[in-house]
Amino acid sequence: MQVHVKRRDIESDVAILHTNQKTIGFVPTMGALHQGHIALVKRALEENDTVIVSIFVNPTQFNNSEDLALYPRTLQSDIALLSEVSSDIIIFSPTAKEVYGNTMISTKYDFGGLENEMEGKYRLDHFNGVGTVLKHFFSIVNPTNAYFGEKDFQQLQIVKKLVAIENLSVNIIGCPIYRETSGLALSSRNKRLTEKQLKESPFIYDTLQAVKKDFGIKNVITLREWVSQQFEKNDTLSLEYFEIASVEDLKSAHKIEPDTKYRAFIAAFAGEVRLIDNIALN
Ligand code: PAJ
Repeated sequence: MQVHVKRRDIESDVAILHTNQKTIGFVPTMGALHQGHIALVKRALEENDTVIVSIFVNPTQFNNSEDLALYPRTLQSDIALLSEVSSDIIIFSPTAKEVYGNTMISTKYDFGGLENEMEGKYRLDHFNGVGTVLKHFFSIVNPTNAYFGEKDFQQLQIVKKLVAIENLSVNIIGCPIYRETSGLALSSRNKRLTEKQLKESPFIYDTLQAVKKDFGIKNVITLREWVSQQFEKNDTLSLEYFEIASVEDLKSAHKIEPDTKYRAFIAAFAGEVRLIDNIALN
């Protein structure tokens, strides 16, 4: 298991891999790895000669300094978890200076409006930070394929747009949401939930499933009101937003159009911990 901190070390590995015409699968993460991340790594191992996993808590994508400070950092157990999967994985765990140099600023992107919906409304500048760090990582790692979870569906769509805007050659591959048996989507932030919050949080997925069941039967306004009412009755979770949106532009849907794919999205707080989830509706 190789763990690189220095940009020049990973760049020299990448140069050798390219000289030998090896394909590189890349899984960018912020660490505190769980089985959701591991599912992406396993898929990348199946489809590429080599897999590079980055572990970097990217400051520019946090709009809340407390969330950044409290984000779990568990590098040693992350390395141990990855080494159980395969000893061939290369880990890149840089400092902010290695990624950004001396000026840690993010580029202002126009993702064609995708950045203004949902997460973009509640987490100002978040997607500029994501786009900027991934632009750096794609140029360092030069991957053949890069793997992203549908858990962060808006991020996945934005990364595809980033690749188009920057004219990059990497294939972006979306992977299904990995869930606990309770239905709760795995997230590094779940580690911060109290026992009671953890017990209550599958409510988010239960609600999404109920929406899916009624999609096409009840209209969007009725579904929206129903979801708000469910959360009002819940003492542990508070709803930040619920949206039904087309997967292409992520704009809030009012009327359901034929031949259009929709997903439902929820962001909710369990105390201070922010959880997001989504489901394909058709
Ligand atoms: P992070 O939250 O660590 O997630 C890394 C990748 O794992 C993302 O593509 C995310 O969608 C995926 N993932 C997380 N939980 C998942 C689950 N339960 N099922 C399937 N996939 C899951 O997303 C980020 O980091 C950052 O924004 C990053 C892309 C690394 C840029 O800093």
